[in-house]
Amino acid sequence: MTGKEKELYYVEGLPIPETPRPGESPTPWQGTRIIGKAVPRVDAYERVSGSAVYPSDISLPNMLYGAILRCPHPHARVKRIETDKAKSMPGVHAVISGQTPGADAPWTYSSSGIRIASKLFDPHCRFEGETVAAAAAETSYLAWDAVRAIGVDYELLPAVSDERAALDQEAASVHEAGNRVGPPRLYERGDVAKGFAVADVVLEEHYRTECEIHTPMEPHGCVANWEGDRLTIWESTQGVYRVQQNVAEILNLPLSKVRIIGHYMGGGFGSKLQAGKYTIIAALLAKITGRPVKMILSREETYLAVGNRPPSNMRLKAGIKQDGTLAALDFACTGTGGAYPAGGTSLVDWQVRDLYKCPNVKTTCTDVYINAGPARPFRAPGHPQGSWALEQMLDALAEAIDMDPVDLRLKNISLYSQARDGQPPYTSTGLRACIEEGARAFGWKQARQRIADAGSRGVIRKGVGMAGSLWIAGGGRPPSTIIIKLFADGSVNLNMGASDIGTGTKTVMALVVAEELGVKPEIIQIENADTGTTQYATPSGGSKTVPTESPAVRAAAISLKQQLLEIAAQDLAVDSATLYFTAGSIVSKNDPSKKISFTELSGLKKRGVVVGIGYRGPNPENRVVNPFAAQFCEVEVNTDTGEVRIIRFLGAHDSGRVMSRLTYDNQVFGGITMGIGLAMTEARVLDKSRTGKMVNRNWHDYKLPTAMDVPEDMVSLPIEPDDTEANTTGAKGLGEPVTIPTAAAVANAVYHATGVRITKTPINPVQLCRLLAERRKEK
Ligand code: MOS
Repeated sequence: MTGKEKELYYVEGLPIPETPRPGESPTPWQGTRIIGKAVPRVDAYERVSGSAVYPSDISLPNMLYGAILRCPHPHARVKRIETDKAKSMPGVHAVISGQTPGADAPWTYSSSGIRIASKLFDPHCRFEGETVAAAAAETSYLAWDAVRAIGVDYELLPAVSDERAALDQEAASVHEAGNRVGPPRLYERGDVAKGFAVADVVLEEHYRTECEIHTPMEPHGCVANWEGDRLTIWESTQGVYRVQQNVAEILNLPLSKVRIIGHYMGGGFGSKLQAGKYTIIAALLAKITGRPVKMILSREETYLAVGNRPPSNMRLKAGIKQDGTLAALDFACTGTGGAYPAGGTSLVDWQVRDLYKCPNVKTTCTDVYINAGPARPFRAPGHPQGSWALEQMLDALAEAIDMDPVDLRLKNISLYSQARDGQPPYTSTGLRACIEEGARAFGWKQARQRIADAGSRGVIRKGVGMAGSLWIAGGGRPPSTIIIKLFADGSVNLNMGASDIGTGTKTVMALVVAEELGVKPEIIQIENADTGTTQYATPSGGSKTVPTESPAVRAAAISLKQQLLEIAAQDLAVDSATLYFTAGSIVSKNDPSKKISFTELSGLKKRGVVVGIGYRGPNPENRVVNPFAAQFCEVEVNTDTGEVRIIRFLGAHDSGRVMSRLTYDNQVFGGITMGIGLAMTEARVLDKSRTGKMVNRNWHDYKLPTAMDVPEDMVSLPIEPDDTEANTTGAKGLGEPVTIPTAAAVANAVYHATGVRITKTPINPVQLCRLLAERRKEK
């Protein structure tokens, strides 16, 4: 081995995995060398040094800046637009609106089969922040000046900003057909009436979670540039191929003429799964001016116009037998995706439908329109909301039958998906292990005892709470394609279309290649998220990127190894079946003197590069791949001030195989932090009684959890069920499950500490003080 090869390959350690024969499927990894280890991210240096180029960092020669004029009213009709003054301003190169020829492009909002045709610049503005006009100028400041100089006459229309009042007789209509988004979605199995009849305890409660805003670090936006008839867009996105498809469709261009690049992106959480209006507007402004245009939204715009987690108003009635068997669950939810169907409103009932074993379940979900920004999928769409209701209800049921909340959950574990047709089994179910091992590691019993011994005296009270959960998805179709190239010097290039949305996707994929080839992950060069140069991939979302892409990466590595074995067999004049891999070389099992390093392979020398291509097959039939979780926390409540301090958190997660321990723990801590935001501080505040406008549209007034709000003591406890059925890597997806049970666990801990059940987010001192005072009065 040369010095250079030693830099590229592991010399010591476990053997390199066997290479299956062509057509054979690979066996599960045993005793991995690098998979599951805590190694630094492959792009850690770029990320922390600022040398990583995000779309918002792109600066092209001759570039102009774009800005968008947005409707300041929650509901209005544009009667007249005056753009002459803005157009004549020095440094302003283009001003467009719905009246500009070529800019009257269509825009379709759609979600769960409901489609509403709108326009890029719709004169009927149904939410504050709807696009009205746009400008491109020499600087960002000039572009904003130009936008401010556009005169608009609005006809103000009555607005509705509270989904709880949207179906009232006197409520303003968001759409001509009324405020109902289609008929309610119904689900039923068994017979809830019979279930309640045999239950020993029946409880009913109303719950509400507030609207949350995605708030990614990098605002939404792009840089658009035309070279002749080819359009290139650097977009902050979770999926370059999805954006390519959107742009090509709206601008009526061949896919081949639209290149989307998104090497890095500063967070999306579901709000960047497709092109935005801003993407199309930037492309149009670039076309008109013949210059590149940069369009990065302001923080305010991201709060108003590009997505949110809908508020959910839930009612849950539950029946249980004295032995802890769930008898019936009846759930209803009213939510709103704002003014248009744009995703993120469904699945609020999924935890109720599928998490705990229950023969009789009924759910009714109703969505209504209000005059507010369209929702988007938001990290585990619907699930944290449903968990907030279900897991608090389980806690209350446990108390009612005098059972430990952990034991109650363990009593009702299902090994199959109850809510899917045919009730197919899970490929693996770590829920029991998550709850049992989580409780043990957290010291659940001891903590409950300690708190009981302390009694409910004093101003400061402690409490512990927990919640279980599952996530509906686990990767799979549609197939993805991966290319791995081995260069003549033994170095490796990995080519994939998928975006790394900050979760560590690139690192995980590098570890897969490293495991299979024996190459060090840090020297693998990765090309990704560029429709011009990388393979097709669906957007990184649904926690599916690792379980979908990693088996394709493994397949590509295996294909490469199979080809290398054939080349080596020729060079060494032996049967390829007698050969195996060591670091950077191939050796005969029968005669160790017959050995050839990658760089000596004649086929590699001749071709310069050997290419392995991998595809993702479907998930197993009649099986369900789902991740599971249980989270535990301890809080300290000041019963005078209503302040809640979260002292510690533990997340026990079954997401299948741990692919990369460092990014795994990052996701657990990040998801818990986001869940603490939902529980404690985050809420879109609309001025419901007067203007209908959002009043906390910035980082000062919209309260995100900071380092001060999350505990230092956070533990990530991976549960690895050894899932050999899910896919060839055994990973099931982690990004979303980590935020599902968090808020409910906090609420349960606050109840344990105070005896006050907080059914509405956020758990702030104002609400808690009021509830504590009411409770004192009752006594
Ligand atoms: Mo996620 S809400 O599928 O990005």
